[in-house]
Amino acid sequence: MKGIILAGGAGTRLLPLTKVVSKQLLAIYDKPMIYYPLSILMEAGIKDILIITTEECEPQFKFLLGDGSIFGINISYTIQPAPEGLAQAFILGEKFLNGEPGVMVLGDNIFYGQNIPDLIQKAMWDADHGEATIFGYKVRDPERFGVAEFDKNNQVISIEEKPKNPKSNYAITGLYCYPKDVPEKAKALKPSARNELEITDLNNVYLQEKRLNFIPLNDHSTWFDTGTFESLYDASSFIRTMQQHQNIIIGCPEVAALKNKWIDVENFIKLCYDKGNNSYREYLLSMIGE
Ligand code: TTP
Repeated sequence: MKGIILAGGAGTRLLPLTKVVSKQLLAIYDKPMIYYPLSILMEAGIKDILIITTEECEPQFKFLLGDGSIFGINISYTIQPAPEGLAQAFILGEKFLNGEPGVMVLGDNIFYGQNIPDLIQKAMWDADHGEATIFGYKVRDPERFGVAEFDKNNQVISIEEKPKNPKSNYAITGLYCYPKDVPEKAKALKPSARNELEITDLNNVYLQEKRLNFIPLNDHSTWFDTGTFESLYDASSFIRTMQQHQNIIIGCPEVAALKNKWIDVENFIKLCYDKGNNSYREYLLSMIGE
């Protein structure tokens, strides 16, 4: 299975922070933001990853992640010339997908929860069998997101983009898994009033074809869309608290690579040493008892 990280966009809500640095490279506590969506794909076993970003920001991502070989994975890059919508990722990514299903995660979304990689793997199995999967999360401000509406049997019957009167509290998160026909479906979409190819429209196509699964993330999971100052700060604060209190590390591609045996301990140590003398490196080394 292949993964796409959509890491372009304008980042206007985070200006001036995003004036010279891509939003997805801003710090979430001790790591660049993109480490988190990258790690979640790696934890789900995905090794072939396409990063879609802007022309100005592409060199920054390449400098940070290169071709992925430091993590034992393959990273390639595509430019989105203008922020024309999330669903455009599957048109830009058609060549990369090469007729296979794909998982997309937004570069500014942070997921935390032990069972999320398993849920992605299940979604990947369903995508291989022609079904798409979206993931919902209960929020207090659903009007900021795509929102699911349910019938009395808890089946999704509609998804509305940023509704004024949301029909539930379930926001659709920035993690999506689609079958191999997704580029074709994305190409058939019409731009919305804000001139974007909307992911909500794409999801509604699969819903109408009864090929859309909805997975609510449970109480043990946390999701942040870090596009505002408040959520950016909240996400950093959450990661700091979890890491310090539970002595774990969240969103760490080095650890994901080691656990998947995509790099060996020797390479892992090299990676750690590359980081210089800091607490991130110390934590990584403690993982292997050094
Ligand atoms: P948004 O937060 O909706 O948009 P944005 O990042 O441009 O921010 P703002 O609204 O403050 O201007 O985007 C969600 C994620 O998707 C984010 O990681 C950027 C990415 N994105 C693209 O890469 N291309 C696009 O066309 C859009 C709309 C978003």
